[in-house]
Amino acid sequence: MKPRNAIITEVIHETPTITTLKMDLKLEALPGQFVMVWVRGLDEVPMALSHPDAITVQRVGEATNVLSGMQVGDSIGIRGPFGNGFELEGTRIMLIAGGVGGAPLLPLARLAYAKGLDMTTIVGARTGDELLFEQQFSQCGRVSVATDDGSKGYHGFVTELVNQFDLESFDQLYVCGPELMMKGVLDILQAQAIEARSQFSLHRYFKCGIGVCGACTIDPSGQRVCKDGPVFKGDMLIYSELGKYHRDATGKKIVQERFEDSL
Ligand SMILES: Cc1cc2nc3c(=O)[nH]c(=O)nc-3n(C[C@H](O)[C@H](O)[C@H](O)COP(=O)(O)OP(=O)(O)OC[C@H]3O[C@@H](n4cnc5c(N)ncnc54)[C@H](O)[C@@H]3O)c2cc1C
Ligand code: FES
Repeated sequence: MKPRNAIITEVIHETPTITTLKMDLKLEALPGQFVMVWVRGLDEVPMALSHPDAITVQRVGEATNVLSGMQVGDSIGIRGPFGNGFELEGTRIMLIAGGVGGAPLLPLARLAYAKGLDMTTIVGARTGDELLFEQQFSQCGRVSVATDDGSKGYHGFVTELVNQFDLESFDQLYVCGPELMMKGVLDILQAQAIEARSQFSLHRYFKCGIGVCGACTIDPSGQRVCKDGPVFKGDMLIYSELGKYHRDATGKKIVQERFEDSL
């Protein structure tokens, strides 16, 4: 599939490191599906759709730096949408968003709101000014906030705040954020034997984005995160590599950094 040309129509600076780029391209996608974004002359990187016509980018390296500096009128190439996306289940749900992990969860919140579901969202970040989409999530249901430095909301990690809720009372929990945060949430759910009621959106190094190259497979199932995911049920991840290691562009194993370094 050739990339489609998209022109940037609006640039929204959400936080000091996170920028939303609205495009003149509206995509029909399930919440949690992603696109491959071609930054011409540089790279092609996976990005969740935060709106049908927008991506929300956190500046972490070369490609995201260029994307974060884009202006109205600039263009990018878009392939997709790809992947499976989240499935809404039950009537009382919890969304857990760490950092830019809020991007794929926002369309889910909007869909759940439209369906009249009872929704609680936990939004976490290192600092108060890095909280993503707090206001947008609060238009769809209750929101609780956690920051590492205590500058807003609960002072501590998202996982600590999650632990203060009666998780048993939720029909389904949806999680996206730094890998060790997701692993922390999975451990909490497993301890209460409710991991089958959860869905996690995973990040792995993507090359083709369509299930052909094998770059994004996870151990031990061999499932491809780009094609079989990026959303996986919690019980599918219990004995997986999640939270232990991932692979870089060359396929070399990278052992996960410490929890507090990954947020
Ligand atoms: C399904 C999925 C959805 C994502 N959605 C978002 C989103 O909505 N917003 C957002 O800001 N980020 C998202 N990411 C992460 C984003 O793709 C990386 O941050 C981006 O590729 C970094 O590129 P870079 O050149 O700026 O950084 P680099 O300096 O090249 O790398 C920085 C980090 O990004 C990772 N990375 C680099 N290239 C890729 C690649 N091709 N595939 C996966 N990871 C890569 C590296 O492993 C490294 O850990 C998503 C990733 C996946 C897999
Ligand atoms: S990125 Fe090629 S198979 Fe997933």
